[in-house]
Amino acid sequence: MNEIQNRISRIGVVPVIKLTNPARDAAPLSDTLCAGGVPVAEITFRAEGADEAMNIMVQRHPEMLVGAGTVLTADQVDRTIAAGGQFVVTPGLDVELVRYCQKKGITCFPGCTTPTDYHAAYRLGLEVLKFFPAEQSGGLAKIKAMAAPFGMFKVMPTGGISLKNLAEYAACPIIAACGGSYMCPDRLITEGRWDEITELCKKSVEIVKEARG
Ligand code: 3PG
Repeated sequence: MNEIQNRISRIGVVPVIKLTNPARDAAPLSDTLCAGGVPVAEITFRAEGADEAMNIMVQRHPEMLVGAGTVLTADQVDRTIAAGGQFVVTPGLDVELVRYCQKKGITCFPGCTTPTDYHAAYRLGLEVLKFFPAEQSGGLAKIKAMAAPFGMFKVMPTGGISLKNLAEYAACPIIAACGGSYMCPDRLITEGRWDEITELCKKSVEIVKEARG
């Protein structure tokens, strides 16, 4: 694993975030995540201004690891890099887009769930994959089955992860980190309920620590 992947793995969880008002919310949210022991954010391009949000966060907290989610185009990769983002997460495996990230030197976690995806990821020389949508694609049972032939990969499951099933995933050595929107629900962000987000982060970190032993 490279340095970015190692840092993500050490933190253990990756909040998947949609920010509709980056100018208002990115700064307090970055404070909140750091206070909660989760100095990492995947800001999705599901809302315009993901790059603005990333830039605000990295300026304010240079110690944070900030990247982009739901990346579908090379232009979004460029915008992520320009904003100071350090990683890219894509929902599926787009070989050309992964190659573009490799050319640009930015870590990419493409969404993979099938043996065909894993084959392609192997050919691309990847080491850590997003496993998406995790619960809907067979969850931990499928992650373990895939690791039989493809034991070289670590995965970052996302999709359907919550405080209820986090421990089960985090305890599995194939898992690099668990991603999810549950730590930063839209409502808590728009209502500025930062303390509740801090608590969700702290609880997640505790669960991962305990699960890993
Ligand atoms: C993602 O883009 O990674 C997922 O939509 C997050 O899934 P979740 O909302 O079920 O955590």
